[in-house]
Amino acid sequence: MTRRVFAALSLILAFPFISAFSAEPVKPVDAIRSGEIWLDESGARINAHGAGLLIYDGRYWLFGEHKVEGELGNSAQVGVHCYSSADLYNWRDEGIALPVSDDPASPIARGCILERPKVLHNAKTGKFVMFFHLESARSNYRDAKTGIAVAEKVAGPYRFVRAERPNAGDWPSNVADADKKPLSADERKALDEMFATGKIKTGWTPDYPTNLLYRADFEGGQEARDMTLFQDDDGRAYHIYSSESNGTLHIAPLTDDYLDWDGEYARAFSGRYYEAPAIFKRDGKYWLFASDCTGWAPNAARLAVADNILGPWTELGNPCRGTEAEVAKTFWSQSSYVLNVPEKNICVFIGDRWNPQNAIDGRYIWLPIQFDDAGVPFLEWRDAWRFEEEAAK
Ligand code: GAL
Repeated sequence: MTRRVFAALSLILAFPFISAFSAEPVKPVDAIRSGEIWLDESGARINAHGAGLLIYDGRYWLFGEHKVEGELGNSAQVGVHCYSSADLYNWRDEGIALPVSDDPASPIARGCILERPKVLHNAKTGKFVMFFHLESARSNYRDAKTGIAVAEKVAGPYRFVRAERPNAGDWPSNVADADKKPLSADERKALDEMFATGKIKTGWTPDYPTNLLYRADFEGGQEARDMTLFQDDDGRAYHIYSSESNGTLHIAPLTDDYLDWDGEYARAFSGRYYEAPAIFKRDGKYWLFASDCTGWAPNAARLAVADNILGPWTELGNPCRGTEAEVAKTFWSQSSYVLNVPEKNICVFIGDRWNPQNAIDGRYIWLPIQFDDAGVPFLEWRDAWRFEEEAAK
């Protein structure tokens, strides 16, 4: 071996994270530092907002909205970005798993709003299924649709399948039979007037019509904006989404292949405006983190628990501990996902600190979920933390 080859080899061995584009070695990451800029193994900024994760084939797979600079970044200019990691600290860029389309007629045309992508692996079909909140460029968040894409390989490419509103033509399972009927002409008029006079808002309103909105959307399908997916131990999967003008959360089981809703869905927290749902299961109980409904601005988090994912759910209030401001604003973040890492004996709260003026500069807030003596989850700020140390607590 010549001396030059030997020198090059030892450099590579000493610095496994050498950027493909620069000679600058990228320092391996050894802790989670919420709110700081996170770099991938090539030294590029990690770009995966509204993220979800999947544990598959011995690696962690991160999917999120790729955002560009400025306000333009609030719409999808690139697509869903995928990264993978062996340790949850150091991330390899796996590329754009689902690119936006160059065809302006496509529902996922560049400029659409494509938010909160979540991916599941279906053990029966072997396929990877991605769900996301989808709005066409000019809908002003009124489409309230769900996009579905599918792939043979975890990092993609994902093929866009369709976009629609969930559960068209199906009644929720947990309403009285008397309330399983379309709106009468008078009810329709009253509802139209509430919209026209601004009595129904996408944030809290005292006049929330809890038994009108799902009936109004029976035919066309239920509105679905902020969302997550949850896969239970038995392989059953659920789509959980903010519906009915964001005022009511729906929990909707999927068909066995995860490519459709099975038509049985439950309503929860009607009139409470739960957004940003993130669910995990521990010791047989389902725990839900969510936010209030204030757009990009952070608000106080909510926690709820249930023995059955379809409800009834019990609200437990704000799970944050810290200064008054931290508790009121969820450490300036909004939930996106809970990663349950059984092999590390830890569940991680994953949230976004949005920056709508410069979308690419939204930051990631990952905090270890702690449990009090009664087994109830809570969150505290950490400047930097390690799985190895938090897991033992
Ligand atoms: C938030 C929501 C985000 C995005 C934003 C738009 O409430 O959680 O995903 O939709 O509103 O204003």
